Amino acid sequence: MSLGPTENRVVIRSVGSYVPPTVFRNQDLETMMDTTHDWIVQRTGIEERRWVEPHVSTSDLAYEASMKAIERAESSGLKKEEIDMIILATLSPDHDFPGTGCFLQHKLGLGEISVLDIRQQCSGFIYGMSIAEKFILSGSHKNILLVGAEVHSKGLDKTPQGRNVSVLFGDGAGAVILSHVKAIHSNAQEFSHSKILNTELFANGEHAKELWLPAPGFAFPKERLTHHMIDEGLHYPVMNGKSVFVHATKKMTESLLKSLEKTQLKISDIDLFLFHQANLRINSKVAEDLGIPENKVYNTIQKYGNTTAATIPLGMNHALEAGVLKRGMTVASAAFGSGFTWGSAIYIY
Ligand code: ACO
Repeated sequence: MSLGPTENRVVIRSVGSYVPPTVFRNQDLETMMDTTHDWIVQRTGIEERRWVEPHVSTSDLAYEASMKAIERAESSGLKKEEIDMIILATLSPDHDFPGTGCFLQHKLGLGEISVLDIRQQCSGFIYGMSIAEKFILSGSHKNILLVGAEVHSKGLDKTPQGRNVSVLFGDGAGAVILSHVKAIHSNAQEFSHSKILNTELFANGEHAKELWLPAPGFAFPKERLTHHMIDEGLHYPVMNGKSVFVHATKKMTESLLKSLEKTQLKISDIDLFLFHQANLRINSKVAEDLGIPENKVYNTIQKYGNTTAATIPLGMNHALEAGVLKRGMTVASAAFGSGFTWGSAIYIY
C-alpha cells in the first residue's frame, strides 16, 4: 500500500559512500603490531581496511560521500542549494573546534544553512537520523544531509601495545539525504512507500570509560594536553573489549525489539538488517538471539573494518549497489558504541 504524496513523512532520498583507495590487509599489520591475520579474522571477521593518505581528513571523506548522495538525489529533482541542514557524525573531527560539519559545508559550497556536529560515536548515524527526522517533521527543514565520516588511522597506536584496538578500525564515510516527501519534485513514485517508521535512542554514561579517548581533555587540571599525556599514550583510544561485547549484543537486541514493538512489526517483516559494523561476532550473536536468518544481515566489516559513524550508510550504499537493497524494502538498523550509546531505526527504504 502506498502512503500518498501529501502524508507527513521523511524519506531516505539518496545515499552515497566513499572509502580511501589504500588497502591495509591484516597481513600488513602483522609486521607493525605483533598480530596475525588468523587472530583478527577469528575474533572480528575483519580481513582488510582502508587508511587515508597523510593529507586527507574526515571532511574530505565526508565531501566525497556527500557528493555521491547529492548526485543521486538530482534524479528526483534535488538541487544542491535546497539542502538546508548538515548533520555530521564523527569522533575523528578535522580539528577540536569548530565542528567538522562547517568544514564540509564550505567544501560543498553550501550557503548559510544550519550545521550540526554530533558526538555519538558508533551510534552517531542512528542519532543523526532521529534528529533529522524530527527537524523535518517539525516543518523547519526540508532536505537534510546526514553524514557519518571517520579518519581513525591517524589516531591509532600502531605498536604492539595498541593491537587490541588498532586492528579494528578503518577510515571511510557514508551520507544520506533525508527529505520531506513534499520536497520531492520528480520521480516521486519511487518514494511511494519510503518512510522512517521509528528510531530509538539510548545512553548510559556509567560506562563512559569502557571505550574512550582520555586526552586531550579539558577535564585535566591546568592543561588539556601535556607531553606527559603523550608519553603515557593517553591520546590513543582505550577499550574494555569484553565489556563492549557483552553490552553491545544485549543493548542492540533490546533496542531492536523496542523498535519492532513500536512499529508493530515482527522480525520476519524486516527484509534487511543493516547493523553497525563493530565486530562480525557481535552481529552474529544479535542475529542468533533474535532468530534473524544470516542472509538478511548485510555486513561490510570484512573489507572496511569498523568505520564507526560511517558503517551504516556505507553498508546501505554497498547493499544498494550490490542490488541487495531496493526501494520499498523494510530495513532495520542498530548500533552500539562509546558512551555507552546505542539505538535502532526501522525504515522503509
Ligand atoms: N592480535 C593478537 N593478539 C591479540 C590482539 C591482536 N590484535 N589483541 C589482543 N590480543 C591478545 C591479548 O593480548 C590476549 O593475550 P593473552 O591471553 O596472552 O593475555 C588475547 O589476545 C585475548 O585478548 P582479549 O582482549 O581477551 O581478546 P578477546 O577474545 O576479548 O577479543 C576483541 C578482543 C575482539 C576486541 C573482543 O573483546 C571483542 O570482540 N570485543 C567487542 C569490542 C569491539 O568489537 N569493539 C569495536 C569497537 S567498539 C564499537 O564499535 C562498538
